Formats: sequence, C-alpha cells, structure tokens
Amino acid sequence: MNSKRPLVFVSAALPSDWVLRLASQFEVITGEDGVRSAAFAACRERIEALVALVTDHVNDALLATTPRLRIVANVAVGVDNIDLAACAKRGVLVTNTPDVLTESTADLAFGLLLAAARRIAEGDRLVRKGGFTGWTPTFMLGTRVHGATLGIVGLGRIGQAVARRARGFRMNVLYTQRTKLSEDIESALGATFVASLDDMLARADAVSIHCPLTAETRHLFSQGRLARMKHGSVLVNTARGPIVDEAALASALANGPLAAAGLDVYEAEPSVHHALLSQQNVVLAPHIGSADRTSREAMAAMAVDNVMRVLGGEPPLSPVESR
Ligand code: NAP
Ligand code: GLV
Repeated sequence: MNSKRPLVFVSAALPSDWVLRLASQFEVITGEDGVRSAAFAACRERIEALVALVTDHVNDALLATTPRLRIVANVAVGVDNIDLAACAKRGVLVTNTPDVLTESTADLAFGLLLAAARRIAEGDRLVRKGGFTGWTPTFMLGTRVHGATLGIVGLGRIGQAVARRARGFRMNVLYTQRTKLSEDIESALGATFVASLDDMLARADAVSIHCPLTAETRHLFSQGRLARMKHGSVLVNTARGPIVDEAALASALANGPLAAAGLDVYEAEPSVHHALLSQQNVVLAPHIGSADRTSREAMAAMAVDNVMRVLGGEPPLSPVESR
C-alpha cells in the first residue's frame, strides 16, 4: 500500500534494528536480492533512498527508472558498484562507510597474509583428511612473514592500518600509489614510497592490495605484472577482485613466481575461477573483510544516518564525490 512517507528501499536485512530505526520515520521495503528483486521493480518509481550493497549495480539505466531517488547509501566504503557520474548528473547523492571498517579489513588482510604464507588453511585441510603423519624437518615449509618486505598498493585508510600491523612483525614496508604521502606519515608508519609498482614488486616478498577498483586499477595485476613478482612471493587481495586477473593469478600460483595468495574478493563474485578452486596454495575468503559484528553494526548505522539526514534536508555524513 502506498504511504505518504518517503520510501526507503533497503537491499538486504541489516544487522540489529537499523531497519526498524528507518521504519520509525519512513516507509521501508527490504529486498532479498537488492535492486534485482521483484520488490525493487514493484516500487522503483517511488523510492527516495536506496540503502545499497556492493552487489547492487547502480547505473544510469537503473537511475532512469527511479525518478524520485535522492540518495544511494552504500553499505561499503568501495563505490565501484555505483556510477558516480550518472548519480551526479541526476542530482542523486552517494554516501559510503569509510573508517568504521578500516581496522577489521586490515585484520583480515593480515590474517590472509599469515594464512597464505604459513600454509595455515592448507594445513587445516590436510589434518582434517588424516594427512598429518608427524613432524619432520621438511614438512609443509612456508614463507617467512616477520622481517620480510611488504609492498602495499594504496596506502590509504586500510593500507595504513595494514602497515601498522606490519611494523609489529618488524616488516620492511614499501608502498606505491599516485600520491606520495608526507614524510611525517611515512615515518610514523615506517613506510617507504616507491613510485613505480613494478619496482616495488621486484623488491617485495609479500604484496597487499588496498586501492579502489577504477578504470586505472582494473587488471593492474595482469599476467605480465604477476610474472614480474619476486619468486616465492605472496599476494593478498582484500580490495576488489577485478584488480587481479584471476586466470593469470591461478597460473602464477601453479607455475611461479608466486608461492601463495590470500583472497577475499573475486572477479565475478560470488563465483571463483575454477583454476583457483583447485590450487592448494591460495586461501579463499568469502568477501568478509569488514565482517566483524562491530564493524557491520557501524556500517549499517552510518548508512541509516546518511539516509535520515538527507531525507531530513541535512547534508550526509560521508558523501562520495564524483571525480
Ligand atoms: P582509501 O582510504 O581511499 O585508500 C585508497 C588508496 O588507494 C589511496 O591511498 C589512493 O592513493 C590509492 N590509489 C587510488 N588509485 C590508485 C592507483 N591507480 N594505483 C595505486 N594506488 C591507488 O580507501 P580505503 O578505505 O583504504 O579502502 C580501499 C578499498 O578497499 C575500497 O575501495 C574497497 O574496494 C576495499 N575494501 C574491501 C573490503 C572487503 O570487505 N574486502 C572492505 C573495505 C574496503 P592515491 O589516490 O594517491 O593513488
Ligand atoms: C567492502 O567490500 C567495502 O568496500 O566496504
């Protein structure tokens, strides 16, 4: 039934009672399959706010069917699922959830680094299938993490949180991105800028990716670039799947130069390239970078606050600018 209150479409259930909070002021419809759901199609012309997930593709074609839309509140910090220029052109605000998930995503990246380098997930599988027959000096040798050189692609919020963890492991931290940071930040993090990604890859024993997915970073880790990584090195990707060419990664894991990889994100989620699924030396997480209870609560709260503010005529807390 149509109500006079503004309609908020929430793409999926949020943790705790954040949807109830929205429902205290607005008409709320929750979809089970985001903007692909029949529920969305049925009410799209009336929607004024969309609480979106990374799995929702918000493009100009969709915006053309949502004439009353005022805000897309992404429950994520990455906004590669949203056409920012199309939103700007149609006067639709976009918000995200920075900061509140930084430390939890860095925890997962570091966990993947340790699990991949030290073969923890592989060892777990082996023990479960009865393959542990006793300690020997050459059994399941992995790659040393402490004291190694870590290359970070994108020393932003999450990249810096990873660098702080790396200091605790006495790692030598290198980073690359478009802008060199101030010497104060570099020295606080103990991080050294390397202008060229290829130069950094030639020096890094482990590489962790923390840049956004953009036209510039799609397949940044191409077949050729993966081939230039150090022999026996480890690659961790908790940023976005399409930054790495998955087929080429599977080949670099099977034939070198990579010793191992840890992934939280995939090129065509929720699918994972079949060649990766059959590789023992890759740890595969199901896009759970921010998935600790506290971060997910905070992300939901931030998205809901952004909607309440914008529909109430106030500026959002965390607007994303179109570049
Ligand atoms: P951020 O603070 O904006 O940091 C991004 C960094 O990437 C910046 O330092 C930026 O520096 C750098 N960068 C941008 N373009 C680059 C390029 N072409 N080459 C190299 N570096 C580049 O973002 P954040 O909060 O750390 O989040 C980073 C990404 O992590 C998000 O966009 C999202 O995709 C991903 N993420 C994943 C999960 C998960 O669940 N797995 C959770 C949270 C976030 P310059 O502009 O100077 O290049
Ligand atoms: C999750 O992937 C995010 O970008 O927050």
